[in-house]
Amino acid sequence: MKKSDRLVVANFKMYLSCAAEIDRWLEIFSKAKKGIRISNTKIILCPPLLFLDRIMSKNKNGFIEFGSQDSFWENRGAHTGAISPIMLHSCQVNYSILGHSERRISLGETDGMIARKIQAAIGVGMCPILCVGENADQKKRDMLMDVVLSQLDKCLSPVSKGKIEKVVICYEPVWAISANSPSRMPTTNEIMGARLLIKKFLVEKYGQNVSSRVKIIYGGSVDSKNITSVCLDSGMDGVLVGKASTMPYELIKIAQSIDD
Ligand code: PGA
Repeated sequence: MKKSDRLVVANFKMYLSCAAEIDRWLEIFSKAKKGIRISNTKIILCPPLLFLDRIMSKNKNGFIEFGSQDSFWENRGAHTGAISPIMLHSCQVNYSILGHSERRISLGETDGMIARKIQAAIGVGMCPILCVGENADQKKRDMLMDVVLSQLDKCLSPVSKGKIEKVVICYEPVWAISANSPSRMPTTNEIMGARLLIKKFLVEKYGQNVSSRVKIIYGGSVDSKNITSVCLDSGMDGVLVGKASTMPYELIKIAQSIDD
């Protein structure tokens, strides 16, 4: 893979919760990116969808793309409150974060549901960003391998060899997410180990060739200070950034650090 394909996925979650806060973020972001050259890294902004238009209209810049924090498994019909891949894609939203642990935990999303969402997103040409990772208890019981392999196996079950390149896989240990007050960051070796595990799964299921084009990124308390260790040193293709993405200068710094 060319280094050029690094990704910084900005998951705003519900951290910025009103139009005024989004406008403030936009104002600072526009200053932060002034004069900055980012040529080989994409920043994918994933705001709450209600604010998407506002953010899009001010960011028609080459290195910025857009994503959603979820998308449904059907494209149309009687599904109150759902947003479908076809709606998103028609609004130039090309990425969708799927299987985030916060949705698994608070909304009871299962691997089966996530698999259907991935299939629907790929079906309209979107790139799903699939989150996998163990929680604190599973980590304690040394279950990382079982948990991640089982999530990959179930969530990617409908994805064929011809489509797997569309999927971005995010290794995000649940215990390392900033909102879960981690006592430490995963080490470079731990992240590298998870990357190898995911790579091996992909190679066995889809073959060496196509697997080398699937991006694997890291998520969990990423900031401009730890970016080298969690991304560059561990050989990751990018990062998923939650809390730090609400600070525009941090977000730009993170992207600059992995841009080469
Ligand atoms: P964090 O969130 O960077 O605040 O840990 C990452 C995520 O959960 O997407």
